[in-house]
Amino acid sequence: MDLTAGDIAAATRGELVGPTDAIATSMTIDSRVLLPGAGFVALRGERDGHDFVADAFARGASLAVTAVRFEASMPGATLVCVDDTMQALTDMAHLARSRVRDATVVGITGSAGKTATKDLTAAALGRTRRVHASPSSFNNEAGVPLTLIGAPDDVEVVVVEMGARFNGNIADLAVIAQPQVGVITHIGMAHAEHLGGRTGIARVKGELLEALPANGLAVLNAECDATDALARRTAARVIRVGRSATSDVRAVDVTLDGELHLSFVLESAWGTAPVVLGLRGEHQVENALEAAAVALELGVPLDDVAAGLAEARTATRRMDLVRTAGGVLVINDAYNSSPTSAAAAVRSLASLDVPGRRIAVLGEMLEIGDASDAEHEAIGALAAASGIDVLIAVGRQSERFAAGASGSRVSVLTVADRDEALEAVMREVQSGDAVLVKASRAVGLERVAESLTGAS
Ligand SMILES: Nc1ncnc2c1ncn2[C@@H]1O[C@H](COP(=O)(O)OP(=O)(O)O)[C@@H](O)[C@H]1O
Ligand SMILES: [Mg+2]
Repeated sequence: MDLTAGDIAAATRGELVGPTDAIATSMTIDSRVLLPGAGFVALRGERDGHDFVADAFARGASLAVTAVRFEASMPGATLVCVDDTMQALTDMAHLARSRVRDATVVGITGSAGKTATKDLTAAALGRTRRVHASPSSFNNEAGVPLTLIGAPDDVEVVVVEMGARFNGNIADLAVIAQPQVGVITHIGMAHAEHLGGRTGIARVKGELLEALPANGLAVLNAECDATDALARRTAARVIRVGRSATSDVRAVDVTLDGELHLSFVLESAWGTAPVVLGLRGEHQVENALEAAAVALELGVPLDDVAAGLAEARTATRRMDLVRTAGGVLVINDAYNSSPTSAAAAVRSLASLDVPGRRIAVLGEMLEIGDASDAEHEAIGALAAASGIDVLIAVGRQSERFAAGASGSRVSVLTVADRDEALEAVMREVQSGDAVLVKASRAVGLERVAESLTGAS
């Protein structure tokens, strides 16, 4: 939506400096991706956005929101000067939400699958509704405001990804987004360290449900054992999705093709339809059912939901599958890792029907606190139990992965870091093999996957 300099100054109680007729046609906090006409908000994070205000104007920014008065050094530029630019971004988000007050906001949180479910939900709605969704994984105190400000004025549904690192994060985001529909993908162990284990994770994710109005809707995963307790925390109507006959929106006849694309038959009160996804891995079933449930509840015809889901795509490095010229199938799932998503990825690798061996290159799952040793051993054990042939365990927790797989027929190699992992996999891999690469973001294992596929 367009925000004038005057709108922004009023919403943020800021001081408008320079030409007053400037209009921001979009909003960004990153000058590198700034589109001409955008407003630039100088946030103070790891780097200080104020160092990039000049760059933003050089790239065509229409105005900047800053906590520093630059008018002497930037004559002719429109500035909205505020005390706190993060607060200003929140203030602008409140303005944006009030501009689209008739739109339905769908909030999506959970331990894994937020981005995929956000993309699936936008796609399931998109054939018949004007939808705006969080760009990439914009899900924090900056990403949620930017999502709302990025919505066009005539939007009908805004799909907002919401992430939590600390208690209270989701409640704060819900104050900004005011969702009427809330989706929780499942409760796992991501960010367990800061949140206090799985109980703490459920506590913060459930803040979304507490924020829903009584005439709102909560969509929960019947396959997750935290769901009953979560359901009690909302005044909104609750529906459940899953694979059992008691779920409100169900998947039956779930199958994966040779490239891990998922298909199933969707059953619901709105009828039955075959669904084929472009997304990979069996763990996308619940994500897709949640997306379908939201769209069906918001009145999208079942056939449009199924057709929309088929077109859905999600961000890169999530179960990306590449067949190399040398005949190796590489699954790049190195965007991030957690116990739930690592288990899902290992199961997907195990389910692949390849002539050669199944090789899992697994790096550390970060931020899981006290449970870390046990969780790494559990993934090692799962790799052994599910029929992985070679486990290349990388970095700090490699010995725990190895301990979990010990005594099995899996051949385990432990290596110190990414470079050694690449050497090991290059030595091992042969035509006909499948290789999964999975670790937390900071381990940087995408370099291994991308070297194998020649993408780097
Ligand atoms: N329901 C799920 N259960 C387990 N793993 C999942 C699920 N959905 C997605 N994943 C995996 O979790 C990782 C992150 O997925 P993504 O959709 O980006 O979630 P988020 O936004 O919550 O980080 C990917 O490896 C993906 O394959
Ligand atoms: Mg995400």
